[in-house]
Amino acid sequence: MQQTKQFPKGFLWGGAIAANQVEGAWNIDGKGLSVADIDTYKPKASNKDYNAHVATNLEGIKKAMEDPTDTWYPKRRGIDFYHRYKEDLAMFAEMGFKTLRISIAWSRVFPTGEELEANSEGIKFYHNLFKEMKRLGIEPIVTLSHYEMPLALSVKYNGWVDRQVIDYFVRFANVCFDEFGQYVKYWLTFNEIDSIHRHPFKTAGVIEEKSVAGEEIQDVYQALHHQFVASALVTKDAHEKIPEVMVGCMLTKLMTYPLTCAPQDVELTMKKNLENNFYADVQVKGEYPRLIECHLKNKGIHIAMEPDDRHILKENTVDFLTFSYYMSMAESGDSEAERTPGNTVLGVKNPYLPETDWGWQIDPQGLKISLIDLYDRYQVPMMIVENGMGAMDTISSDGKIHDDYRIDYFRAHFKQMKEAIDEGVDLIGYTSWAPIDLVSAGTSQMSKRYGFIYVDADDEGNGSYDRMKKDSFDWYQNIIRTNGAALFDE
Ligand code: BG6
Repeated sequence: MQQTKQFPKGFLWGGAIAANQVEGAWNIDGKGLSVADIDTYKPKASNKDYNAHVATNLEGIKKAMEDPTDTWYPKRRGIDFYHRYKEDLAMFAEMGFKTLRISIAWSRVFPTGEELEANSEGIKFYHNLFKEMKRLGIEPIVTLSHYEMPLALSVKYNGWVDRQVIDYFVRFANVCFDEFGQYVKYWLTFNEIDSIHRHPFKTAGVIEEKSVAGEEIQDVYQALHHQFVASALVTKDAHEKIPEVMVGCMLTKLMTYPLTCAPQDVELTMKKNLENNFYADVQVKGEYPRLIECHLKNKGIHIAMEPDDRHILKENTVDFLTFSYYMSMAESGDSEAERTPGNTVLGVKNPYLPETDWGWQIDPQGLKISLIDLYDRYQVPMMIVENGMGAMDTISSDGKIHDDYRIDYFRAHFKQMKEAIDEGVDLIGYTSWAPIDLVSAGTSQMSKRYGFIYVDADDEGNGSYDRMKKDSFDWYQNIIRTNGAALFDE
């Protein structure tokens, strides 16, 4: 069959951002503190330090809660999207975006998570945002939980470890469906739900010190189970409330290869990939995989379930699967094998791949392999909802940013996407991370830049916050305008 150069008709090209990394306005219009608002800045020296996450001990949390400034907490500043969203949306529309993935900050709608009534100022902000997107013809994709749960729920309940948090989340989600269902067809429940094991506080408000010694991992699995149940419950609600709704899960695709063909490397790798798929297994297939249940049992981990939980999971599976893809890594039985950071992981270095300024290994073909692997396993429509390259952009003497490295990264990944589609994968959309520079999730740096649009702000929050197009802006605009065909004319 003759393949066209274009992506499928109606392909959703766009970008993805998260409230806590862009909005700022952390303490106005009734917003409560979220776990992201106490995430500390990691100095430039930590570029190669993969584990750059918030200190989550109780003392650090208390100190942060009492600090009225944003000095050490860049996510309190974001990129001031709260006030500049019209300008930003106009630039996205100029690039031709068909879609924009955003998240709704739970603590802007329910400041502590426990209120009975939603904060009207928060609701108003998102109404205005969605109206503007509609006016510009940009289809929203909305994540309900993207590393920004109300801090009060974390402190009082140890986050998702307590089953009661399910009820608060269901209330929040239902307010979102009732208020914004008129604008939003695509909903994602939890961003990178698997990340709970890599950063339990950021993902689920779990504070290690609150666990009984030795039961930390058990608590993390319990919190995860509660998120699975909550995800299924709100999937059911969305299906009942919003016509033609599509609810999706969201996975960090951490593609792992054996460093060698030694059977030991192959087995370790297979197990890593099985673990990575587990989260989507539950949300797409509606049940815990037998191998994972056995693994938990062997580890002495017992997840407390209510009698109806398995039924809830089975009956309310998601409609589509989404994932983030930035890098791949290798695995080896050799404990001395060289390692390099990736997206909140420290993987074995693959000698065949280049890496970004932050050591993440660039692997476009790994995206194609991931697409085929996931589609073969799940057979549901898929979207790539995060993919991009964090880099140290510099302004050249002509006053412009010539980010050819970013264009090269995207071009190579898009070509692999097209090959996967031509081989039969049902890929319906792609949102780059991130179309505009924003505060890094991992390091809270502004200097780790992802955007097609530059934001004049530094790590300390100095700068005008003015926006400026990079070279990649025009390039992506042309890709969208030609629905991908321009990739093959360059
Ligand atoms: C994803 C997150 O894991 O990676 C985003 O969903 C994050 O929120 C992105 O920004 C890139 O990671 P980082 O640490 O470079 O911002």
